[in-house]
Order: sequence, then structure tokens, then C-alpha cells
Amino acid sequence: MENPEIETKQIFSMPRIGDKAPAFKAVTTQGEIQFPTDYEGSWVILFSHPADFTPVCTSEFMTFASLEKQFNEANCKLLGLSIDGLYSHIAWLRTIKEKIEFKGMKDIEVKFPLIEDITMEVATKYGMIMPGESSTKAVRAVFVIDPNGVIRTIIYYPLSLGRNFDELYRVVIALQTADKFNIATPADWRPGDDVIVPPAGSCGVAKERMDSQDENTHCYDWFFCTKKMDKETVLNAIIRK
Ligand code: BEZ
Repeated sequence: MENPEIETKQIFSMPRIGDKAPAFKAVTTQGEIQFPTDYEGSWVILFSHPADFTPVCTSEFMTFASLEKQFNEANCKLLGLSIDGLYSHIAWLRTIKEKIEFKGMKDIEVKFPLIEDITMEVATKYGMIMPGESSTKAVRAVFVIDPNGVIRTIIYYPLSLGRNFDELYRVVIALQTADKFNIATPADWRPGDDVIVPPAGSCGVAKERMDSQDENTHCYDWFFCTKKMDKETVLNAIIRK
């Protein structure tokens, strides 16, 4: 290490919610990509996993691949990364398809790109290396990036904990619903549940809303108003089949 301070800063630098997603060029299992240029107009989940040929990662890839169509229908593309080489990625994904049966999933073909990042260039740019956990493996990072290339949600998990993919799907749908209808979503929100109007921070508008409530709006107090939004309204606005 030539200059430990610079090295440490690079490892710990990480983009934040609201930042433009850092650009990179990479080799993947589906060819070369320019990020985020190649993904303009789509939501993206960019996620890292610690290593190929490991059990938690295998269970995650099988789950994500089996849900890919559902994410794509919500205009969301998947993009994986680990600090492994292309041939390791290819061999691991082939083994998954040919040999692994898990929770009723079998013959699973991972069609979304998996980035090779032997140099750790991308992992470092995105703060996916957490030396307290491992300095040679990426943690399980999840970046949800919008069609304008802006980071909208970041979630991190340690090496030993497999992600909840229902939650990742819920995040994508909730963000799109918030954008489309200018609302916010309460704790544990799912399509069909009441939404919050207007988004947090617009207290003056909430007071007005409270004074002119209609049958679809309910105010718990001046700062907390919800309105009904049925599941079809949400899904019709977001899901493309
Ligand atoms: C796994 O995916 O099983 C795993 C990877 C790295 C460390 C621990 C578990």
C-alpha cells in the first residue's frame, strides 16, 4: 500500500441516495456494458455478492433469476457483480443450471449480466468493500437506480445473510408509485394499502388537506394524512406485460 490514507479513502468512498450512479465500463457474462448509459430509461438493481461457488450466493442467484421476469415487467433490470473473473462466473452459472435444485427451483438459467470485477474497480467505486467484513469480497450491496441514473435506495447485508427478494421488489414498486402519484408509502406498504399524502416535508399542504378531507382521505392528525389507492391503480400504472 503506497499511501494508506488514500487507499482507505478509496475503499470507504461510497455514493449516496440522490447521487448520480458512478459510471463504469465492465465485462459481464452478457458482454461489455457501459453503465449507466446502457440502462437509460430503465430502473436497475445493481447488486454485489461475495463470491461464486458459495451457498448463500447460489440461493440468491436462483431466487433472483426466477423473479427476473417479474422485475422486468416493472421496467427494472438486474445487474450482478462479484470480485471473480468471467470464467468463474460462467462455470458457476452453468453449474447452477445443470446441477442445483433448491426450494423447487431447478434448471435455472441466469440471463441477467454478472460483472467480472477482479480489479475491484467497480466494487470500490460503489463502496461494496467493507474491510471489517472482508477486504477481498464484496458484501451483499443493493443499489436501486432510477431511469435517470440516480441512486434511489441503498441496502447492505453482511456475508452470512441472504437477501429478501420480496422486499427488493416492494422497494422498486414503492419508489415508482411514489414518483407516479406524488405520494409516500408508509411502513410495510404494499400495493392496495393506503398511501401518504402529500409526501413528508409538505406540512402546509397536509394542513390544507386535513381541512378539506374527502371520503378517500383520512387524517390521523395535521401531519399524517393517507388516501386510498387500490392495487389495480398501482399495478396498471407500473406493470408492463
Ligand atoms: C455464501 O454465499 O455462502 C458466503 C459467501 C461468503 C462468505 C460466507 C458465505
